[in-house]
Amino acid sequence: MTDIPTILRAILDTVGQSADRGQVADYIPELASVDPAHFGLSVVLADGSQHSVGDAAVPFSIQSVSKVFALALALGRLGDRLWTRVGREPSGLAFNSILQLEHEKGKPRNPFINAGAIVVTDAVLAGHAPREYLGELLRFIRAAAEDDDIHINEDVARSETETGHRNFALAHFMRGHGNLQNPPELTLGAYFHQCAVEMSCDQLARAGRFLMGAPDAPRLVSPDRVRRINALMMSCGHYDGSGEFAYRVGLPGKSGVGGGILVIAPGRASIAVWSPGLNLQGNSKLGTEAVEMLARRTGWSVF
Ligand code: DON
Repeated sequence: MTDIPTILRAILDTVGQSADRGQVADYIPELASVDPAHFGLSVVLADGSQHSVGDAAVPFSIQSVSKVFALALALGRLGDRLWTRVGREPSGLAFNSILQLEHEKGKPRNPFINAGAIVVTDAVLAGHAPREYLGELLRFIRAAAEDDDIHINEDVARSETETGHRNFALAHFMRGHGNLQNPPELTLGAYFHQCAVEMSCDQLARAGRFLMGAPDAPRLVSPDRVRRINALMMSCGHYDGSGEFAYRVGLPGKSGVGGGILVIAPGRASIAVWSPGLNLQGNSKLGTEAVEMLARRTGWSVF
């Protein structure tokens, strides 16, 4: 029997000794001022028990981890029609790259790079006010976590709006190709607020239970979709670091530039880790190392 609390304490101990914690995202002051010494890790097992260490109760900006929840909503709303507007292939490029969009007629490679996530948000918006979409997204996340104390940080959203020139470029480029139905300002307003959701590792690990197929988790998405979202997390969830994450950890995961990662061990666990320092691909450096240790010691890799 795997002793999860002992493993988590050993991981906390190891990361505590790490000299290189990576670089905190510095493109907006709200993320640049986060203390890089934070580290949280939480694991929910199939039996519903939850084990946490470090700063697992401290809320952080989930950023691109929100793209998983937005995708689940979009698939629920549009079904497979979504795939006429966004692909399912890894991009091999940075999360905010515009390169492939020109050759590929404004259809982004996958729903987790910025261009793809903007299309997903645009598709769910479908003429509704951003406020309605954000209300629906928050209801989904709160229902998944079974916790109503999950909110959007308005300062983060405002800073993103002021500095999000690359996202505006992506949105306008796709609008030029007819792959954005709403005005870019509207879609991006919703997208920036979606990225500004704050959650703790405790909350995020609970919210991820619907993706692990836990028997008592809220049933928000069909088992077929759960499998497919996990497949996309494995192949595309870490941008141009997705192959490396699959190689080292062997589990589907979705990272955010706030330093959080949601990792799913299908049928076994939902895992959330947070360490604000990032590696060169914009994924949490110690977060990746921590889940690599966890997967090795538990034997949870899907391979
Ligand atoms: O759109 C952006 O650039 C950010 N709000 C989110 C990017 C992000 O989290 C990329 N993840 N590593």
